[in-house]
Amino acid sequence: MRIVLAPMEGVLDHLMRDLLTQIGGYDLCVTEFVRVVDQVISDRAYLRACPELSNANAYGCTTKAGTPVRVQLLGQHPTCMGDNAAKVIELGSHGVDINFGCPAKTVNKNRGGAVLLKDPENLYQIVSAIRKSVPKEAIVSAKIRLGYEDKSLAIENAQAIEAAGANELTVHARTKVEGYRPPAHWQWIAKIKQAVNLPVIANGDIFSVEDANTCRQVSTCNDIMIGRGALMLPNLANVIKATSSAMPWPAVQSLLLSYTACETYGDKSKYYPNRIKQWLKYLKLEYVEAQALFQEVRTLKTAPDIIAVLKR
Ligand SMILES: Cc1cc2nc3c(=O)[nH]c(=O)nc-3n(C[C@H](O)[C@H](O)[C@H](O)COP(=O)(O)O)c2cc1C
Repeated sequence: MRIVLAPMEGVLDHLMRDLLTQIGGYDLCVTEFVRVVDQVISDRAYLRACPELSNANAYGCTTKAGTPVRVQLLGQHPTCMGDNAAKVIELGSHGVDINFGCPAKTVNKNRGGAVLLKDPENLYQIVSAIRKSVPKEAIVSAKIRLGYEDKSLAIENAQAIEAAGANELTVHARTKVEGYRPPAHWQWIAKIKQAVNLPVIANGDIFSVEDANTCRQVSTCNDIMIGRGALMLPNLANVIKATSSAMPWPAVQSLLLSYTACETYGDKSKYYPNRIKQWLKYLKLEYVEAQALFQEVRTLKTAPDIIAVLKR
């Protein structure tokens, strides 16, 4: 079984990838999406989204623990997506992941993310342009939802992605309209898997060993991707792989302190305060202690103030 650490914009940055992959159990990370509009993004912007690229020449684009990191692109214009994919590979990414699942209104209004699921031909054009722009050995993967409003195009979309030459497909088992509302329809992943020859990775609502087992059984997938669950229980991948039991709160506290390393973004920056609060929102679903901590930092606005509370 492979476990992929999900891309999560606004929460799962390179420091979090480092922390979680050092704990172990993850076989691949995908970055937060990089928005491609009508030009090739600068090296600087790619390095900001994926600082692991700067290690690429020495030991591959990996986290410090050695877990491969793949850059995710979100965009709608095939040629421009192809040009950006070529750049990402040149910079050293293990491959390119394409986001066809983002539900954000602003992104969808500009014809990016989940709205593309209404048009299998457009998916085909984007994946095909990327496939043609990168070397044969580069992995091209796509991440989809089951559809936009309904699931009627789920199989056609997956087949279009396969026909365009993708190597791998992750399916978040909900439509765009279903948002993050439970349940995730894992049985739909099985239908898709049956209709394509690609490796399919199952995603959505895996928060425990039981969820992982049921999801793998129902979806018929060997491999899974986990997002929110990894933020709620930092060693979830190891728990699923039966190499450890749930992490106790004091160990989580040390992780929270390690994450203060991103304080280097500056006292005035909202980066650290926003992200640590986002993480605590997930942790408090698993740990009562995180609930109290979240209440304490909720209204604090600067990194030093929040760090002082964490260090107490
Ligand atoms: C805050 C947040 C940010 C996300 N950002 C991305 C993203 O940048 N790219 C992407 O493909 N999916 C993104 N997703 C979707 C997740 O990768 C994943 O598909 C979804 O959360 C379901 O998996 P889970 O139940 O394991 O969390 C995001 C989800 C959340 C909650």
